[in-house]
Amino acid sequence: MQASRPFRTAIVPAAGLGTRFLPTTKTVPKELLPVIDTPGIEIVAAEAAEAGAARLLIVTSPGKDAIAAHFAPQPDLVATLIARGKKDLAEKVRRASELIEISTVAQDEPRGLGHAVGCAGDALEADEDAVAVLLPDDLVLPSGVLNRMAEVRARYGGSVLCAFDVPREQISAYGVFDVEDTADPDVKVVRDMVEKPSAEDAPSTFATAGRYLLDRQIFDALKRISPGAGGELQLTDAVALLITEGHPVHVVVHRGGRHDLGNPAGYARAYVDFMLADPSYGPTLHEWLRERLAWNGEGIRGA
Ligand code: UTP
Repeated sequence: MQASRPFRTAIVPAAGLGTRFLPTTKTVPKELLPVIDTPGIEIVAAEAAEAGAARLLIVTSPGKDAIAAHFAPQPDLVATLIARGKKDLAEKVRRASELIEISTVAQDEPRGLGHAVGCAGDALEADEDAVAVLLPDDLVLPSGVLNRMAEVRARYGGSVLCAFDVPREQISAYGVFDVEDTADPDVKVVRDMVEKPSAEDAPSTFATAGRYLLDRQIFDALKRISPGAGGELQLTDAVALLITEGHPVHVVVHRGGRHDLGNPAGYARAYVDFMLADPSYGPTLHEWLRERLAWNGEGIRGA
């Protein structure tokens, strides 16, 4: 089976504290916050399924059981909706449970993205030589970049990451790749990665995005790195270690859009963007936004 698809398992780390969304995330996992009406993690699950993954391996933590519950079948609710003539809604409810096989693995303490991915290593089968990692709070649009990344791994081997070309004045908010060109302008060899450099020191304008196609060797590298800032194990440190050991790492530069659902400002943009593109909500929201932006601010509601 592995020969016919570049990876079988897509790991989705979802065990973080979601502190930027407190107090909501006291009880509601941030991965379940809706974009219009669909949780971000369901959008990402659909992307993984479309790229050929057979299984979504969600890294969860105590208190975040609602994430796996979202993907469980709800036959009673579906039957009720159908009985009430709401076939479209029944389809929406059914979608998550039919997209892809779901399994979970626990991360008992939020010790960083690298640690979360490391928790998934033992759940892979012996013949899985590569794995995808998708961050559920990072929407990479349109979908399809994982297919490009799989082509690059098939050609060069090793691991393949996703990059965005961002304006230099914004680069210090990101992890940044130090790269060398290949013949393809959208595929680069990665020499190193730098976390949040100043605009002058940044080795490129290619910023990391939350999509990874990792060789299985990453799990061994994750055991050999030391915790960084805040005692967290960083996934990028494990990738950097592999680079120093001669492991090929490339990036695919994605020339599309991106939304960061992980903080309120990025989430608001994603929500508005999806709403504006929606035929039933878009036109009225557009009209309201036009009026709202032209307004002089007197009597602002909700302030
Ligand atoms: P983030 O840093 O965006 O999520 O990690 P967070 O830590 O939950 O959020 P803040 O910073 O406190 O607001 C990216 C993804 O990695 C997961 C998160 O759940 C999120 O989906 N993650 C992060 C883990 O699974 N475990 C961790 O220890 C850290």
